[in-house]
This record gives sequence, structure tokens and C-alpha cells, in this order.
Amino acid sequence: MSLKNDLQDLKKAGLEAVSRVGSVEELEEIRVEYLGRKGKLTRVLKGLKNISPAERPAVGKLSNEVREILHKDLEIKKKELSRLAEEEKLELEAIDITLPGKIPHIGRKHILTQVIEEITDIFIGLGYQVAEGPEIELDYYNFEALNTPPDHPARSLQDTFYVRTADGGRQPAEEKEVLLRTHTSPVQIRVMEKSEPPIYIIAPGKAYRRDVADPTHSPMFHQVEGLVVDENITFGDLKGTLEVFAKAMFGQDRKVRLRPHFFPFTEPSAEVDVSCFICNGKGCRVCKWTGWIEILGAGMVDPNVFKAVGYDPRQTVGFAFGMGIERIAMLKYGVNDVRMFFENDLRMLEQF
Ligand code: PHE
Repeated sequence: MSLKNDLQDLKKAGLEAVSRVGSVEELEEIRVEYLGRKGKLTRVLKGLKNISPAERPAVGKLSNEVREILHKDLEIKKKELSRLAEEEKLELEAIDITLPGKIPHIGRKHILTQVIEEITDIFIGLGYQVAEGPEIELDYYNFEALNTPPDHPARSLQDTFYVRTADGGRQPAEEKEVLLRTHTSPVQIRVMEKSEPPIYIIAPGKAYRRDVADPTHSPMFHQVEGLVVDENITFGDLKGTLEVFAKAMFGQDRKVRLRPHFFPFTEPSAEVDVSCFICNGKGCRVCKWTGWIEILGAGMVDPNVFKAVGYDPRQTVGFAFGMGIERIAMLKYGVNDVRMFFENDLRMLEQF
């Protein structure tokens, strides 16, 4: 009978061991310990040969039952453990969909880029093409070919950033000096050198002057240059073009006014005002109570400029204009210090 008792004890111990198990690995150890080939049950059954043949079937039946019960219990426990493990995993990987998401920071074009694109688009609509030239320029393109005499104040070391001089010294030589272009007008020369009329181009870009930064000056700033060379171009075409531009840029009610001026590379030359888009010409702080705001310089291309690029000055006519982008952006958007465009303070830039 002791074999039967042994089997009962084994069952009890086995069930208890299973109930205490905390992991699938431990459970496997228990299975091997009790039901494995060299396990406890096998060892108990070795005693079978010592009992009477009459008793054997009953003991055999019991041993099968014990094996069955332990096996089932192990299976149940295994399922339970893997369910718990799964739950734990889900818990760990849970996403709280009620949490507010991270708001992505969306970039934007710099306000000066936006203004440049706005101006460029207006002229593209009039059939102009966009041209570009180098910011590091030769004196020839920046001054000489633009009919600017050697003693012009713009050529002084006080006004222009020279990169290198032909003689390697500080004093600029007559020719081939390298400088940071002081305006976008050298692009006029580069375009005319490479092509024949008709020319309708717009050239946006950076320009540099030796100014100390203050609310209205920045040593680097932007301009948009315009150049038209075609047959029968008149001063009236220039004024009409600028009127179309001013209305598109500042509103359909704008008027344009040309005042006589001087530029070495245009003759005649003019400074161009637009009727104040803040007060509609009545007079306000922005237009300094004049009703007009100066927006650009312009004129008919000087014959000497055509000569420099190999065009016949008696057969060729055209006009050119140039405008400062920062100034236009400041007027249009009420920015009162040019330095704010370049400080990259997001509180400023995000407003546009
Ligand atoms: N280049 C001139 C300036 O920087 C502007 C201008 C361009 C004037 C073209 C006339 C014609 O002030």
C-alpha cells in the first residue's frame, strides 16, 4: 500500500510545487523534476516490480491518474503564466491616447525671402526672367562698366568692402579689384555681356556697404535690380512699369511719382516715390507727412553702359531700376529697425 501512498504524496507535493511557481522557466523545472524521464514519478514506479501482480493494475491506474493530473495542472499553470506575461507586456507598451501630442514646429520662409518672392513674381508676370550674379565682384562690374568714375565716393575704402586689391596692398588699384558688390547693378553688365536684346530681367540678391549697423543701416542688405533693353523703350515705359509694380505690391490705389536724381549708370535718372499706403497720401508718420514714400532708384540706361558691354549706344535703349528690400519690407510690415531682420529672433520672425 505504501506505493499508493507514495503516489498520493507525490501528487500532493507536485500540485503544491506547481501552485508556488512564478515563471514559465520554473514551471519547466518542476515538470522535469516530477514527470521527467528520471523524475520523481519514474522513481516511485520502480517500486512496482516489488508488489504483487494482483495489485499492479490498480497502482498502475493510480500512477497514470497522478501523471495526468500533474500534467493538466502544469498546462493550466503554463497558460496562466503566459497570459500574465502578456498582460504585463501590454501594460508596459500601453499608449495613453488621451495625452496631448507633441506639436511639430513648422518652419517658414524668412520675411525678406517672402518680399523678394513677391516682387519677383510681379515681374515674372510681366514677362521678366530672373538673373543672378556673384556677391564677390570685380570693381569693373560694380563700378567701371557702370560708368562710375574712379573718384566717385562709393569707390572709397570708407564705403566699399574690398576683398583683395590687384597690388595686394590696401589701396585699390585701378582695375581688377575684388570687392563685395555695393548694389545689384553689376548683374546688368553680366547679363548684357552674355546676351543680346531684347532683355527683360530682374536680379534679386545681397549687397554690401561699409555702414555701421543702426535702425536704418545694415552692412549687408538686399536689392532687386531690373533691366529692360528693347526697341523703342521710353521713359514712359519705365514709369508705366513702375506704376504696375507699385499697384501690385502696395495696392491698386497707389500713385507713382518720379523726382529727378542722379546715378552714374542712368541718364536721365529718377528717384521713385509711391503714394503712402498707410495714410493714402494724406500725411502720416511713415511718410513723414509728405504723402509719398521713396521706394527705388531708376533711369534710362546711360549710353556709356551700353558701350561697355559692346552694344551700339545709338541703336540701343533701355531702362533700369533698383530697390532696397529691407526698406520695402519695413514700410510694408511696420518694422522699425532693420537689424531685426538679421537677429533671427523667432518672436520677430514668427510674425510673418
Ligand atoms: N544701384 C542703385 C543703388 O544701389 C539703384 C539703381 C539701380 C538706380 C538701377 C538706377 C538704376 O542705389
